[in-house]
Amino acid sequence: MSAHKPLVIGNWKMNLDYVEAVHLGQQLGVLLKNKPVEHTDIVVVPPFVDIRSVTSIVDSEKIPVGVGAQHVSAHDNGAHTGEVSTSMLKRLNVQWILVGHSERRSMYAMTDEVVAATLRAVVKSGMNVVLCVGENLEVREDGGQNDFVADQLHSALIGLDEKFLELVTVAYEPIWAIGTGLTASSEQVGEMMAQIRSVLTTLSLGDARVLYGGSVNADNAESLMNEGEVDGFLVGGASLKAESFMSIVQSCNDCYDGKR
Ligand code: 13P
Repeated sequence: MSAHKPLVIGNWKMNLDYVEAVHLGQQLGVLLKNKPVEHTDIVVVPPFVDIRSVTSIVDSEKIPVGVGAQHVSAHDNGAHTGEVSTSMLKRLNVQWILVGHSERRSMYAMTDEVVAATLRAVVKSGMNVVLCVGENLEVREDGGQNDFVADQLHSALIGLDEKFLELVTVAYEPIWAIGTGLTASSEQVGEMMAQIRSVLTTLSLGDARVLYGGSVNADNAESLMNEGEVDGFLVGGASLKAESFMSIVQSCNDCYDGKR
């Protein structure tokens, strides 16, 4: 069990229009009202076009969740058709940004250099960054996952000004476990958590929360939490239904509270 207060982030990816997003936000609000969660931080990460609607109901109905974005430009403004800036998101009360998700890296040509630049733009704006790292199946089968992830961490974080360190969270998402139903075993996750924490310590980030993502659901959250030594989860598919997302949150809350 980790010493950090757990953090559970729901990455809605390219799902839910703004009406559906508001509905899911309201359902989360009802569940949290009926069964408050004290020992876990919760964040939802809707598509850009839903953010304003979601932050509005989170604010007006005082729902205890943070709101994040799935991507942001490394540039401040200007001729970047299709992009969104940190200041635009900050104005909407967004507090968290995913950077370097494997889907951005593999499908939208996000290089390590762009990941590093984007991460810096996010922390300079005062928002929290969730740096996503993780190997593909080929690297895992060759046993190269530790070096691969260490390289991703170094290239994104080396030289980061220490005043920004507290804004950094890391999410380990092995690509082969994303949306496949294949979860990394608690043992594989535990080994990688130890590896990531030792690299982060050399980068003065030993205190950062390290999350796991990849086919997390209500059934595997508890063992990943206890045996995998994670500080929480980055959840895709299971975050699209209020009940399944909240049961993952509840597992973290109960583990941290010593009820499990
Ligand atoms: P799934 O939980 O659907 O596997 O997605 C994980 C993920 O990519 C979250 O960012």
